[in-house]
Amino acid sequence: MRLTNARCFVGRETLEHAEAVANQIRALGEIPRLNVNLSLGGGPMRLQDALAEALDVEQQALDAYKDFLPHVLGDPLLEEFIRNQIELETEHVEETVQTLRAGGPLKILTKPDV
Ligand SMILES: [Fe+2]
Repeated sequence: MRLTNARCFVGRETLEHAEAVANQIRALGEIPRLNVNLSLGGGPMRLQDALAEALDVEQQALDAYKDFLPHVLGDPLLEEFIRNQIELETEHVEETVQTLRAGGPLKILTKPDV
């Protein structure tokens, strides 16, 4: 049950981030295009393994935004957006690390409408 909630949380967050990035692309007058190359095992997974995987995803996102920041310095909209994403991903990394260390309960979320 908790693993399902963890996956729902990661999936919802990923969708929210994709929507935020797509909105920024539209604001620049472009059309966002998505190329997903994803492979999922689909089998059962231990909670700690799922959290470790989630931490890896969060850290990759944080690193990508930090790497991108120098490219948007001076652009008021994009720089603010990237700085907000860095702040958000930093929180996510910290929360995931805390949850991993505590081995404690996760937030219970409702299943998102898909
Ligand atoms: Fe995140």
